[in-house]
Amino acid sequence: MMTPDFRPTSQEDWQAKIYDALEAFSPGAPIDEFDLLAGRQVQIERLVETVMQRGQHAILYGERGVGKSSLANTFATKLLGGARALTCIPVNCHPTDDFSALWRKVFRRLEIGDVSLADNYPGAIDPDEVVLELSKFSLNVIPIIILDEFDKLGGRELRNLIANTIKNLSDRSVRATVIAVGVADSVSDLIEEHESILRCLRQIPMQRMSVNELQEIVEKRLSGLGMTINPDALSFIVSLSRGLPHYTHLFGQQAAKKALENRQMTVEVEHVEEALPSCISETAQTIRELYHKATMSARKGHIYSEVLLAAALAQVDDLGYFAPSDLQRPLTEFLGREAKVSLFGQHLKNLCEEDRGSILEATGTNRRYRYRFEEPMMQPFILMQGLRDKRITREQIHALAVTHYEPRFAF
Ligand SMILES: Nc1ncnc2c1ncn2[C@@H]1O[C@H](COP(=O)(O)OP(=O)(O)OP(=O)(O)O)[C@@H](O)[C@H]1O
Ligand SMILES: [Mg+2]
Repeated sequence: MMTPDFRPTSQEDWQAKIYDALEAFSPGAPIDEFDLLAGRQVQIERLVETVMQRGQHAILYGERGVGKSSLANTFATKLLGGARALTCIPVNCHPTDDFSALWRKVFRRLEIGDVSLADNYPGAIDPDEVVLELSKFSLNVIPIIILDEFDKLGGRELRNLIANTIKNLSDRSVRATVIAVGVADSVSDLIEEHESILRCLRQIPMQRMSVNELQEIVEKRLSGLGMTINPDALSFIVSLSRGLPHYTHLFGQQAAKKALENRQMTVEVEHVEEALPSCISETAQTIRELYHKATMSARKGHIYSEVLLAAALAQVDDLGYFAPSDLQRPLTEFLGREAKVSLFGQHLKNLCEEDRGSILEATGTNRRYRYRFEEPMMQPFILMQGLRDKRITREQIHALAVTHYEPRFAF
């Protein structure tokens, strides 16, 4: 509930409150404090178990932007306060890194005594040296090494070499834990899945965030500001986000700003609506350009925008794919006439072609194709555009958006 204390009184106080609101949300950066992390209980548990078990390591993977780095950065706080001291060492993999360059980044951040390990390795570093150095840590200090952006490493061979090094760490019962984090549909996209490697490498899939988790992101931050949100406005933000926390932060932030500019401490639906133009302009230029490329046409009366809108609302599977038939209902609504697959099937194919920016990608075989957005961030953007261009209403989004992003784990 709103406490009167929180309500600014002067012009300056309102302005200060706007700055606080801008800071409270973080659309542009991973979460770096455990208290700011919403949800993700299942994954936190699994990571904690991994660290606590000798010889266990993990690979965290999922779609772009679902919150992998945020989780990897913060989960270890859960473990602090115990008898053992944990040092979390996050490093980002870079396309130009080779084995030595990557481990040198880790070594630079590891000290034995007062000396950085990297000082001992002016030249190349080989897998055996990694195992040797990491086994020197005492039982009381467990390093957790996070190799973020693992997918960016050039070449499968290098990734396999790292996976094998992890296997060696495991064989030697080294207490250090390695967590590889990357964009992938499955672990086999990142490394070769040898039985022996999989035994020591827990696979932790990250799905898009659930409705409850996304609500938590907004509510937690607003309550810290002494603000509240109308339930319709909250569900509007959540259904627009399509399970992607970046957008929840962006919508929450910009809507809170609008509310405060109107000298209100409760975020209403109108504030979300008023915030959309700034959310559109805050969205990466690349996404905006791709959208325009996909929807432009010399022919009048084309329905690319409508097809994309329907696709942005469709129910998707765990990998983000939808079936063409999933678009029939929303498209019928947008066009005001029956939309059979035969009407738009070719559009879907064309949207996979380069001259439409390959905004969609297809999987499956003839007649059983499934599609998804090549860039997941596109879905909320398309909905924002649709609202702005008045091709779709908030009520339609509410009615048609399938919010099936509840985690479905296959253990
Ligand atoms: N559990 C969470 N609670 C609150 N905010 C989150 C959570 N997870 C992610 N976010 C927010 O979502 C956005 C994307 O998160 P993050 O960068 O961790 O995703 P990612 O999967 O690592 O993305 P990429 O694939 O681009 O590396 C950030 O703005 C971050 O602040
Ligand atoms: Mg990341």
